Amino acid sequence: TDPLRLGIAGLGTVGAGVVKIVRQKANLLAARTGRPVVITAVSARSRDKDRGVNLSQYAWEDDPVALAKRDDVDVFVELMGGADGPAKAATQAAIAAGKDVVTANKAMLAIHGQELAEAAEAAGRVIRFEAAVAGGIPVIKALTESLAGNQVERVMGVMNGTCNYILTRMENAGLPYDEVFEEANQLGYLEADPTLDVGGIDAAHKLALLASVAYGTKVAFDAVEIEGIERITIEDIEQAADMGYRIKLLGVAQMTGRGLEQRMSPCLVPASSPLGQLEGGTNMVVLEGDHVGQIVLRGAGAGEGPTASAVMSDVLDIARNIRVPTFGQPATTLSAAKPAKSAAP
Ligand code: NDP
Ligand code: HSE
Repeated sequence: TDPLRLGIAGLGTVGAGVVKIVRQKANLLAARTGRPVVITAVSARSRDKDRGVNLSQYAWEDDPVALAKRDDVDVFVELMGGADGPAKAATQAAIAAGKDVVTANKAMLAIHGQELAEAAEAAGRVIRFEAAVAGGIPVIKALTESLAGNQVERVMGVMNGTCNYILTRMENAGLPYDEVFEEANQLGYLEADPTLDVGGIDAAHKLALLASVAYGTKVAFDAVEIEGIERITIEDIEQAADMGYRIKLLGVAQMTGRGLEQRMSPCLVPASSPLGQLEGGTNMVVLEGDHVGQIVLRGAGAGEGPTASAVMSDVLDIARNIRVPTFGQPATTLSAAKPAKSAAP
């Protein structure tokens, strides 16, 4: 059987994790998919950096666009990050060259995902992004496969581990926001631009993707109502606790008579509920379907192992020739209405 040949652009936290899985689990992956999964070429900014993995047997490309177009690459695995720039250019090049794409890049997909997905569909290719929403939690697959017989009634969740770390640390240690923000910075939790985390934007990217998958709508990041956690004080958290609530940066998407409502904002959740019990940098996604009822998924939303695990799930689907479309299909999209302010669930 022909091997599935991967070209990996980006060898940082996630990319190195994917290389490790492909190298360490070669036999298992082949047994599970019926064909070998191999890496043929890789790309990153610096060729000399020690990444803790042996890359000597892979072709090296300085330019990710050149990697994306290589004849010996079947699947372009984009793990560089950034909404625009080389990530988008290389993804477009890969699709134009007839490759399937796997990416963890929520920022790129929230902004350009519809355009990229339509290009992929026109080319008969797929673009898969399990890792882009809630890292290691298999939420995209849960919606597209396991819950495919349901009408989704609501999706919600805590999808930024950094914000949940900051809020729970403020509460548990009684420390002010600025101090815990600095602590998170020292621990390396924050994105290069921390506003993406604490401003709720990273979580809103994920919510827009999740909603498009749940409702079969176009990705509508611009329609997400966003409020971050920067203004949350210890007093807010203490008052909430006195009433039996905790404050979470919660994303909610639901279809209303006015269209798709998407909100990412600090919300009061009952302290005794699953969301209320979520501690530290963990993520939780709650899915509600008309037949299945409520499902709660909890796990690591970031980190090398969990995120690489999700990337591999997409790669293995392609190896098995499972080509379920994940984005809203252009023919069946609904318009996204700018949501009005409404109460927390
Ligand atoms: P890193 O910053 O650790 O790695 C980025 C990699 O991309 C580096 O290897 C870098 O090269 C390479 N790169 C950057 N620009 C270029 C370029 N112009 N040409 C070639 N290579 C380039 O990022 P992560 O691994 O953390 O994240 C990767 C993606 O996964 C992002 O989209 C992120 O949002 C997403 N993600 C990450 C999670 C996590 O836990 N880290 C969780 C969920 C999603 P070099 O090493 O030489 O600098
Ligand atoms: N900055 C993100 C978080 C990383 O804290 O959840 C994972 O997407």
